[in-house]
Amino acid sequence: MNKNLIPIGFALASLFTGCAMGRAENVATLKEAFSKDFPIGVAVNQRQFMGEDTNGVALITAQFNSLAPENVLKWEAVHPRRGTNGYNFAPGDAYVAFGEKNKMLIVGHTLAWHSQTPRWVFQDDNGRALSGTNAADRELLLARLHEHIQTVVGRYKGRIQIWDVVNEALNDSSNINDTNMLRQSSPWVRILGVEFIVKAFEWAHEADPKAILRYNDYSVENEPKRKRLIALIKMLQAKNVPVMVIGSQTHANLSWPSAELEDAALTDIAKLGLPIHITELDVNGAQGGQRNQSADVAQNSQAAGGKLAESADEKLSKQYASLFAAFHKHRSEIKLVTFWGVTDADSWRRNGKPLLFDGNWQPKPAFSAVIEQAK
Ligand code: XIL
Repeated sequence: MNKNLIPIGFALASLFTGCAMGRAENVATLKEAFSKDFPIGVAVNQRQFMGEDTNGVALITAQFNSLAPENVLKWEAVHPRRGTNGYNFAPGDAYVAFGEKNKMLIVGHTLAWHSQTPRWVFQDDNGRALSGTNAADRELLLARLHEHIQTVVGRYKGRIQIWDVVNEALNDSSNINDTNMLRQSSPWVRILGVEFIVKAFEWAHEADPKAILRYNDYSVENEPKRKRLIALIKMLQAKNVPVMVIGSQTHANLSWPSAELEDAALTDIAKLGLPIHITELDVNGAQGGQRNQSADVAQNSQAAGGKLAESADEKLSKQYASLFAAFHKHRSEIKLVTFWGVTDADSWRRNGKPLLFDGNWQPKPAFSAVIEQAK
């Protein structure tokens, strides 16, 4: 057994609950600090919701009051195969049970996305790629989407309160003159166009009428993508599609988005009249990530690559303070803020040490910088 585990666990317990020392002034938790503003969520992995990462669990339950599943409810994980035996619910069930046991607000992520979706979804039974110009192919893909959403949302009806229905469907180009609203390389877009978005929201709403349904995307701070987001949501609203929340992933770096840009973007997005959730917050400190603002998973090795930028820890605190100042200012529109991982060691960008807790489960200076913004 690792000798370090006990002292670390003890230190965490005394720092975050104040119980061991009985010293109220040591009490500092994210969920308490922002309790008047919004719940604070965290994306969790399987080792955490299965209880194997005990230090991680201690941090999760002390600091956060909402959960997102980092990977286990993505199509490739929950529905890897076609056919009646195609689902794998055990990890998703354990995730939801963990959230319920700890009385947390539970998010589902994600129903329709171009990434982490098995190839068979976009092929016929002989392995031929489905085509957008073939009516039968379109019907087949729509039927699959319907069945998937009915099954997954239906299974967790009344237990998962919030769903990311459609993820990252917007065109990612930074060229403001690029008139394509949607991501042309997505098979969903190629085969079905905007119809998959409309149907995904309608079917999710049918499967659980009480669930809060989100459209979720990254880099919506930048004007080209923000314009497309606003155009898409207005189009959905005009068709009475039940899109209920805008999810802004907020995979930031040490200088982007600036305080001004974050404030302007939130102001603009709020004009849609829907609540905003910050859904996947992290601040990438890797050198590669200072040049690349994209959170495209296909580009992640570049964005998370290279050494840590100079004075990264200090800049991390400043950037988190700036972001939380904007979130706090917009607290009447922001209804949830979720971090994309517990500690740096868990992060999809672990090279960039992008979170508030280090690999030994200890709070970094950025943790206090965030707490300060609640005042
Ligand atoms: C990431 C996970 O954190 C990684 O473990 C996985 O390998 C790739 O996906 N946008 C999203 C998330 O919506 O689902 C992605 O999560 C990060 C970018």
